Amino acid sequence: MKHEVIEKNLGLLAVLTALVISVAGLVEIVPLYFATETTTPAPGVQPYTALQLEGRDVYVREGCYNCHSQMVRPLRSETERYGHYSVAGESVYDHPFQFGSKRTGPDLARVGGRYTDSWHRIHLINPRDVVPESNMPGFPWLDKAVVDAAVTPRKLTALRAIGVPYSDEDIAGAGAAVEGKTEMEALIAYLQLLGQASRTWGVQ
Ligand code: HEC
Repeated sequence: MKHEVIEKNLGLLAVLTALVISVAGLVEIVPLYFATETTTPAPGVQPYTALQLEGRDVYVREGCYNCHSQMVRPLRSETERYGHYSVAGESVYDHPFQFGSKRTGPDLARVGGRYTDSWHRIHLINPRDVVPESNMPGFPWLDKAVVDAAVTPRKLTALRAIGVPYSDEDIAGAGAAVEGKTEMEALIAYLQLLGQASRTWGVQ
């Protein structure tokens, strides 16, 4: 039997197994690059403003994703707690996306607008001041660190190169938009945006 030849030859078996898995993987992944659902922004989803983008970078740098996912699953228990389940079109401008799966803290995909800016500020400086039982670490330095406005336009330019539709005016005004802002202000601007588009979609 021909099959026996493959089964008795480990090298050949390994190569053919890898081939089958690669083809199967490509069949699943490649269409996603062309599907409208994954490449078109969901209704209400806009590219990040310069300040929100800086805030998102602080989020990534501080490793908030180690404890917080940004992906509401389409399950009753999740949608009741957080809001509309996450859709692919919400992440088209996210490079890299922040889905995650580790939930030491709650999912943050719908946290925008849930608290005031000052709540976030107090919480980020010392979470225990507003949530006594919290085991989230404080990030007090964000209140003193100032955003480096010289780099912001370059970040927008880089994102434009990979498809985020920033205009020349967006890029020209990016530095001024974040000038003198603290990393805390930027991070809060980002957090307050999370999930806002989904509020306009109606019931799940
Ligand atoms: C070690 C894990 C951990 C890290 C790292 C962490 N958090 Fe948290 N976070 C938690 C836990 C636990 C809670 C729930 C208790 C509370 O509200 O403080 C929480 C709650 C929150 C909430 C309130 C969510 C809600 O729906 O009530 C926000 C907003 C938040 N975190 C933002 C952040 C941001 C931004 C960062 C990064 C700068 C961060 N967290 C880093 C564990 C973490």
